[in-house]
Amino acid sequence: MIVRDALRDAEQRLAAAGVDTPRVDAELLVAHVAGTTRSGIYAQLDREVDGALEPLLRRRESREPLAYVLGEWGFRRLVLKVDERALVPRPETEIVVERCLGLLADTPSPRVLDIGVGSGAIALALKDERPDASVTGIDVSRSALSLASENAERLGLDVDLREGSLDAAREGWDLVVSNPPYVGSLEGLQPELRYEPEEALIGVGMHEAIATSAATRFLVLEVGAGQAGDIADALREAGYEDVRITADLAGIDRVVEGRR
Ligand SMILES: C[S@@+](CC[C@H](N)C(=O)[O-])C[C@H]1O[C@@H](n2cnc3c(N)ncnc32)[C@H](O)[C@@H]1O
Repeated sequence: MIVRDALRDAEQRLAAAGVDTPRVDAELLVAHVAGTTRSGIYAQLDREVDGALEPLLRRRESREPLAYVLGEWGFRRLVLKVDERALVPRPETEIVVERCLGLLADTPSPRVLDIGVGSGAIALALKDERPDASVTGIDVSRSALSLASENAERLGLDVDLREGSLDAAREGWDLVVSNPPYVGSLEGLQPELRYEPEEALIGVGMHEAIATSAATRFLVLEVGAGQAGDIADALREAGYEDVRITADLAGIDRVVEGRR
């Protein structure tokens, strides 16, 4: 089958499977197999597509996240390896990194802790964009840590990765950042989430626990839709000042930060 027909066929199958963005997903899958970019495929519409497309298309039709099917995903300036060992890095989390960089602008060689490092997205992006920072990432999931260290090695970014939980927050940091699990239940949410590790998604109370236990000058937390107000209050109660909420590109209040 040639690229032009493969695109049309893939788009129709993905739309029938309920994928939100069937055209974009079809383009990215065909581009991946053809070894080119999304725009590059339009210069090769009559080229043959090989059999590698079909198994990838089937995985996406079953609603496996596109990032897992492709095996890599862009996050800020990095391309990260991604698989079922850790959450797919989300575009809204790029704003978490943005806020961390803003708060640290006047702090030379900052010490930074990322709680729940997952694929390494936040920790590695911070190290990439603030090379003078000492960045530590912790996670309770050994699988996630193995993926984060593969990413660190591939990207040549020197971050300290350790197994651990909130205790590390007490060690004393310039900035503690976390995108903790904050979903109550997967009921009614997109089927793609079933492929991601449950311990990365489902969780209650971690924001508050981090806010009360962290010994840090700056705290930056990613929150779920509708959670920002309560978590901002929790930061104020825990003694943080200049508490600020930042919305994501969809207009959802997504990042809560404070300083003390
Ligand atoms: C929502 S994911 C975030 C992953 C990554 N930081 C990102 O933003 O893409 C949450 C991560 O927190 C980890 N986690 C869950 N409970 C934890 C705990 N008590 N202490 C440390 N990490 C935890 C999970 O294993 C998961 O990797």
